[in-house]
Amino acid sequence: MTSLFEALRIGAITTPNRVVMAPMTRNRASATGVPTDLMSEYYAQRASFGLIISEGVQPAAIGQGYPHTPGLHNDEQTAGWKRVADAVHGAGGHIFLQLMHAGRISHVDVIGTQPVAPSAVTPAGQLFTGSGNKPFDQPREMTADDLIAARHAYVDAAQRAVLAGCDGVELHAANGYLLNQFLADNSNQRTDQYGGSPENRARFVIETVRAVVDAVGGDKVGIRISPNGNFNDMAETQVEETHGALLAGIDSLGLAFLHVGEQPGFAGIKFSRAHWSGVLIGNTGYADNDKIASAHALVESGGADAVSFGRLALANPDLPMRIKEGTVMNEPDSQTFYSGGAKGYTDYPTL
Ligand SMILES: Cc1cc2nc3c(=O)[nH]c(=O)nc-3n(C[C@H](O)[C@H](O)[C@H](O)COP(=O)(O)O)c2cc1C
Repeated sequence: MTSLFEALRIGAITTPNRVVMAPMTRNRASATGVPTDLMSEYYAQRASFGLIISEGVQPAAIGQGYPHTPGLHNDEQTAGWKRVADAVHGAGGHIFLQLMHAGRISHVDVIGTQPVAPSAVTPAGQLFTGSGNKPFDQPREMTADDLIAARHAYVDAAQRAVLAGCDGVELHAANGYLLNQFLADNSNQRTDQYGGSPENRARFVIETVRAVVDAVGGDKVGIRISPNGNFNDMAETQVEETHGALLAGIDSLGLAFLHVGEQPGFAGIKFSRAHWSGVLIGNTGYADNDKIASAHALVESGGADAVSFGRLALANPDLPMRIKEGTVMNEPDSQTFYSGGAKGYTDYPTL
């Protein structure tokens, strides 16, 4: 029986345990998307996780979703991520950067231009823009040139991540951001080869994964999916078919991992285990209120190879040790999730 505290080979690295820090947007970068020293401190504090997956990082200016999120499309941002990677490695940890192009989950007030998406479908709801909550803008349907530019941005950002000394990148194809917008039929109403069928909706994601793998090697690339998720106004009707087409298209590329967020109404982790031959990281989702018991059970049963934690990781910099010793946990303070500053960020106590 495998335990959460056994080593695991993930791509080119070997992690000392199977407790992964889930990607979490924290809005602590500079106004121009440069990672700050506070971010280096935050990630280094969490170096005892087998693997840290960073917050969403925009691979292009047009892919930014929220204020004060970090980017990876210029030299200053790359240098900032090098400081983060050095701090994490100096403390003995490993870090992959999550490449998150927000697509239609953005606003002209954030990016200074109209957001882009597979189709010109405005998401329901509002976005925090820095000057209050505002209804989403109607996005512009991506042209063939836009698709090339977006793919290139992922490749360029992945190369920058490697240059910065990071261990790899996770392509964010979950939670309603650009790659997920291609997968879901309510946001993808294209009539070209990128829409209209499960295979077509998976095509842009597969092409992007392939391009990034060609550039940096499969052992430095992971991907995150959230089949059947409804966050950010996603609605999918062919969940198995579309995600099945995606996994069939990328399973042979030798990726470092597949990271699956379980969503109500669909056994995404189980489905992925059956359709994926590589390392599987599970996240049991917001609806699970006994995350630690589930994590043990998932890894011990072979349902996943590792488990990621979001809110518990944010609130407990030494989470792996706390899980191992079965000790009490700090409670996450949701008021400071996106507030900026050190409070609720680097001031959670260790044991
Ligand atoms: C503050 C916060 C920010 C998040 N930002 C991201 C993100 O940038 N990218 C992502 O894929 N998921 C993001 N998530 C989702 C988490 O990665 C995770 O899937 C979710 O919190 C459920 O796990 P948990 O129950 O362990 O918290 C975020 C969650 C929280 C709480």
